[in-house]
Amino acid sequence: MEDGAPLETVRGWLCAAHRIAVLTGAGISAESGVPTFRDAQTGYWAQFRAEDMATEEGFRAHPGRVWGWYQHRRQMLAGVQPNAGHRALAEFARRHPGRLTLITQNVDGLHQRAGSTDVLCLHGDLMEDRFLDVPRACCHPDTVEAGSPPHCPRCGNMLRPGVVWFGENLPLRTLEAAQQAARACDLMLVVGTAGAVYPAAGLARIARDAGARVAIVNPQPTELDAVAHMVLRGTAAQVLPVLLAPAGSGGDNGPVPATP
Ligand code: APR
Repeated sequence: MEDGAPLETVRGWLCAAHRIAVLTGAGISAESGVPTFRDAQTGYWAQFRAEDMATEEGFRAHPGRVWGWYQHRRQMLAGVQPNAGHRALAEFARRHPGRLTLITQNVDGLHQRAGSTDVLCLHGDLMEDRFLDVPRACCHPDTVEAGSPPHCPRCGNMLRPGVVWFGENLPLRTLEAAQQAARACDLMLVVGTAGAVYPAAGLARIARDAGARVAIVNPQPTELDAVAHMVLRGTAAQVLPVLLAPAGSGGDNGPVPATP
């Protein structure tokens, strides 16, 4: 463990870093009112089985029930706002163009609504639909028949949410871009993820093995704590605005110029 106050130490790494990668998970949206998956009692997987709600088999077995759950989550998102953690990341990226790569496991769109651009969304987008089976000529998203789920009136092909379910591949280009960012960064911040789902969680190890510092922001222990050089025990909305704030009178927290 490094000497000094943990937050100040990570701020120092941030100032020195030319390239920063940030991996976020459900915890960054918790203070917006979006439930996480694995938190005891409040997490979705405390109420539902992931096999039922987040696999192709679960959807085929009970399409109405699973579609209804995603519709409920979509409606819930319409009533929430990005929080100070999302905003701090977006503002930092605006102040430091090209320096920060934001990688998220979240499908809630809150990073984008806070103003982040070029977000690498590893697990898709909750607000998108696509057909469950390979679309035939008759399958067109604009002519689906209403229902739970909506489906092609001719062949019955159902719409499903555009998220990555367990057992499915992540979008290849997005994953490759995330792995490249992990290899190239000097600092990786891992915010609000239990670190239990791969390949996303593996990005922290990739960054560390490539020589980056790794720092975690999470109020609870995670499966990645052992990979990290520093763990900041706090919530995203509390820690990120302080961590990512511009330095006081000394100027912005840009990279330290190389000494000649
Ligand atoms: N700030 C930061 N972290 C928080 C906060 C908060 N306010 N509240 C909770 N957390 C932390 C929890 O301590 C936990 O470590 O967020 C983490 C949430 O973990 P998960 O629910 O497992 O979410 P995540 O890691 O994003 O899950 C990964 O699993 O089910 C799949 O596809 C789903 O993308 C998701 C993936």
